[in-house]
Amino acid sequence: MSQHITNKFLKNALTRYANREARVVIIGLGYVGLPLAVEFAHAGFSVLGLDVAKARVDSINLGHSPVVDISDAALRAVISSGYFRASVDLTDLAGMDAFVICVPTPLRKTKEPDISFVISATEFIRPHLKAGQLIVLESTTYPGTTDELILGMLEAGSGLKADRDFFLAFSPERVDPGNSTFSTRNITKVVGGIGENSTKAAVALYSQVLDKIHAVSSARVAETAKLLENTFRAVNIGLVNEIAQLCHELNIDVWEVVNAAATKPFGFMPFYPGPGIGGHCIPLDPHYLAWRARLSGFEPRFIALADQVNSNMPRYVVSRVADLLNDVEKSLKGSHILVFGVAYKANIDDSRESPALEVIHFLTERGAIVRYVDSYIASVKINEELFSAVPLDDAVLAWADVGVVLTSHSDFDWIKILPAMKLVFDTRNAIKLESTKVVKL
Ligand SMILES: NC(=O)c1ccc[n+]([C@@H]2O[C@H](COP(=O)([O-])OP(=O)(O)OC[C@H]3O[C@@H](n4cnc5c(N)ncnc54)[C@H](O)[C@@H]3O)[C@@H](O)[C@H]2O)c1
Repeated sequence: MSQHITNKFLKNALTRYANREARVVIIGLGYVGLPLAVEFAHAGFSVLGLDVAKARVDSINLGHSPVVDISDAALRAVISSGYFRASVDLTDLAGMDAFVICVPTPLRKTKEPDISFVISATEFIRPHLKAGQLIVLESTTYPGTTDELILGMLEAGSGLKADRDFFLAFSPERVDPGNSTFSTRNITKVVGGIGENSTKAAVALYSQVLDKIHAVSSARVAETAKLLENTFRAVNIGLVNEIAQLCHELNIDVWEVVNAAATKPFGFMPFYPGPGIGGHCIPLDPHYLAWRARLSGFEPRFIALADQVNSNMPRYVVSRVADLLNDVEKSLKGSHILVFGVAYKANIDDSRESPALEVIHFLTERGAIVRYVDSYIASVKINEELFSAVPLDDAVLAWADVGVVLTSHSDFDWIKILPAMKLVFDTRNAIKLESTKVVKL
């Protein structure tokens, strides 16, 4: 590759990547940043992880991993090899070769993008910007963030020109926490620079560490590809959640329907209904796309409709629980309800945007007495009220008038649990046992 390259900064950068001389900074050590930092360190790069949360940095440096995909042993191995350390100190950013930004991109209450974390990470880099450096944004964001906002911030007052003196790209992270088949290294990495040199630099760096790279023509294409992926999921989950409600009215088992449709070897991909969508990505990302589209006068209808259906699922779950209690001559008010799982998906320790929080909120608002079991999540705050997980024992199973399965953690042993329960509403088709006590979504 290097024989076709005339830009001296790029040539030098590629040599430094290939020789593992390049020093890499990962900004934001969460579900995305920490696994990426560990991959770079494994590949023999000297990696600095920068985070603003001091307690998190201290605990990482002691070898305690805060994320499910990185074991303490894996973290300790890269720390003791000397290839990785975490820091809160911004002066450590001096003299680095590459910066990869993996900070949160939440929504404001108005469902507008909150890119204040991306802006602050860029501000951190600015005083240390030098010719030959590569900056990559991995945080999910709206099209144009990299080539409008970040580019302008970095060039301003620096005397440096993007794609000529320094390199700037967007590369979405597609990691799926808890997925044991696909992780940071073997998920194809989409990369789009703000110009050709930037794409080449980012492709070259990631190629040293990750299995497969897919280069696209611009940062905007890469930004939009990520939003398409997650909008695709949100819309299809919305569709199947609506089909689940329709099937209930027609007295048809939606799970059997989806499984039958999924036997088609082409043209169908199964999505499953549930109590709503959660996590840091699927409920939020489509709004980034919708917001940007609206600025250009385009109103995306699928995103709004899927959001409407998915956001209503927690209320729908509560109405179905009320119906079940009604059938056994009980009211929601005063009933004992045991929630199984508050994480937003199975076998992970993340309750951000979890539909369980809303289900519990609506249940308690209507006077139900709610407890929850979840070995991954010790406590959750719902509208200023702190709920702590209770032990999963015979006493709590006997206490419950109804159990509500919101997350299908694999440590729920239904063969043991079910005999001790009166009634269970299963929103995940988790139980898979023939029993009149179980009612499915
Ligand atoms: N979690 C996922 O499954 C996933 C998957 C793909 C993409 N993403 C995207 O990746 C990005 C990061 O998500 P995450 O789940 O890793 O978030 P996270 O909350 O787990 O971690 C983010 C980290 O960034 C730190 N931080 C915040 N501002 C900072 C700053 N200015 N400088 C340094 N550190 C800062 C926080 O303290 C935190 O430790 C988001 O845009 C998200 O949408 C997440």
